[in-house]
Amino acid sequence: MARLTIGLLKPKKKILGCDIAGRVEAVGRNVKQFQPGDEVFGGNGVGGFAEYVCLTENSLALKPANISFEEAAAVPVAALTALQGLRDYGQIQPEQKVLINGAGGGVGTFAVQIAKSFGAQVTGVCSTMKLDMVRSIGADQVIDYTGEDFTQNRQRYDLILDAAAYRSISDYKRALSPKGIYVLVGGSMALMFRVMLVGPWLSMTGSKKMRTVMAKINKKDLALMKELLEAGKVIPVIDRRYSLSEVPEAIEYLEEGHAQGKIVITVQGQ
Ligand SMILES: NC(=O)c1ccc[n+]([C@@H]2O[C@H](COP(=O)([O-])OP(=O)(O)OC[C@H]3O[C@@H](n4cnc5c(N)ncnc54)[C@H](OP(=O)(O)O)[C@@H]3O)[C@@H](O)[C@H]2O)c1
Repeated sequence: MARLTIGLLKPKKKILGCDIAGRVEAVGRNVKQFQPGDEVFGGNGVGGFAEYVCLTENSLALKPANISFEEAAAVPVAALTALQGLRDYGQIQPEQKVLINGAGGGVGTFAVQIAKSFGAQVTGVCSTMKLDMVRSIGADQVIDYTGEDFTQNRQRYDLILDAAAYRSISDYKRALSPKGIYVLVGGSMALMFRVMLVGPWLSMTGSKKMRTVMAKINKKDLALMKELLEAGKVIPVIDRRYSLSEVPEAIEYLEEGHAQGKIVITVQGQ
């Protein structure tokens, strides 16, 4: 489906890279919020793997003062996906039992911390190597998916945010509390289509709900992330840094699917 908008056989926009952080070089006549020299972060879906990028002011916010450009560039899509998935699709509430599947990845590391900032009791699911890291960013419980299947352990969750969705719909339903909400972020495309098709019907006919997230970058949520980052409630987890000329290696590593948090591209001179 994404190919219909981003290009059927190859990307229509040649420069990829969704997230950016940098200094404003110049502004258009109608721009009200920013001026040259401002340090900003955000993104509008393309063009990030470059020294210069042109984008609308609505897709940017001022960079948190306490973090580097590299850390800020790790935030936009992953953090806003986690935020919108938990808050808008998942209707997260304090004290709820929230499970984050894929807790060791880009979206997951933000989701654990954002869910904690809402006052939830958070369980993070990841592989053995990432257990300590997921605990260190605030998860109350961790489950090693190589040894335990959270859909079979009789625990029930009010909200499941799934960044690594590879099980069946009935498995996920079983792990939900009676009024629980399952929010699919990413994983198997087949499952994503199934949840898109069957989810609305399941939600209408029963008390449990199943939804898929389509995150949208916007300045209001970027500004909220700025507050959380400046308050130290969220800290970007960065696995590796690559230079601009190493983008192919960076993507190759990302596509292996086991990065710990985010990887970032460093642009010289920032
Ligand atoms: N809907 C949206 O708007 C939106 C936005 C952004 C991203 N996404 C999608 O969301 C997904 C996650 O993105 P991401 O940036 O977080 O990717 P990522 O950084 O690669 O993280 C995925 C994580 O899933 C873990 N994982 C793999 N198999 C697992 C399993 N069976 N059980 C539990 N965890 C497992 C991996 O960690 P281990 O090393 O522990 O296996 C990895 O850390 C991708 O499919 C991406 O395309 C969707």
